[in-house]
Amino acid sequence: MVLIRTFRNTDLNDVIELSERTLGENYNPQLYTTVFQLAPEGFIVSYDHNQFLGFALAVQEETELRILMLAVDERRQRKGVGKGMITELVSRFLAKGVKTLTLEVRFGNDIAIEFYRKMGFSIKGAIPNYYSTGESAYKMTLQIG
Ligand SMILES: CC(C)(COP(=O)(O)OP(=O)(O)OC[C@H]1O[C@@H](n2cnc3c(N)ncnc32)[C@H](O)[C@@H]1OP(=O)(O)O)[C@@H](O)C(=O)NCCC(=O)NCCS
Repeated sequence: MVLIRTFRNTDLNDVIELSERTLGENYNPQLYTTVFQLAPEGFIVSYDHNQFLGFALAVQEETELRILMLAVDERRQRKGVGKGMITELVSRFLAKGVKTLTLEVRFGNDIAIEFYRKMGFSIKGAIPNYYSTGESAYKMTLQIG
């Protein structure tokens, strides 16, 4: 059974490993604990019994929820885990006054762009040189309130 819950410190290694394998950026591990201390509700993980499936990291800024990271284990992709985590974030943050979800996605990450479109997001613009590699990002948004 797939469970989605708030991050705990014991999840940190799983989160870092998946992030390094799938997100293409070398984030400082301190980032996760700092964000968690500031805003724990936006840091969620998904498990199937003891198997780690994925995580999402999001931060509320007034009526906007910024999704900073979302990743699903390669062996468990395309099984609804990502959708489940977006749905969980929407239900958690609608109650806190969030009206818009926003995120950046790398040019060429067609799977993620298609995934977000299916979740109802649309492209609102582009940000040149957004990533440390110099690659650009699309900004995508979803109205929920
Ligand atoms: C993007 C990502 C989080 C999606 O998670 P997921 O659990 O695989 O997605 P879901 O199974 O919930 O997919 C929901 C819908 O999105 C679309 N979708 C997801 N993966 C897709 C793919 N590989 N090709 C086409 N459509 C896809 C489908 O419409 C899917 O519904 P369906 O399977 O009923 O057709 C996952 O592919 C991932 O971790 N990628 C690597 C990290 C990454 O790029 N993160 C985003 C950074 S901005």
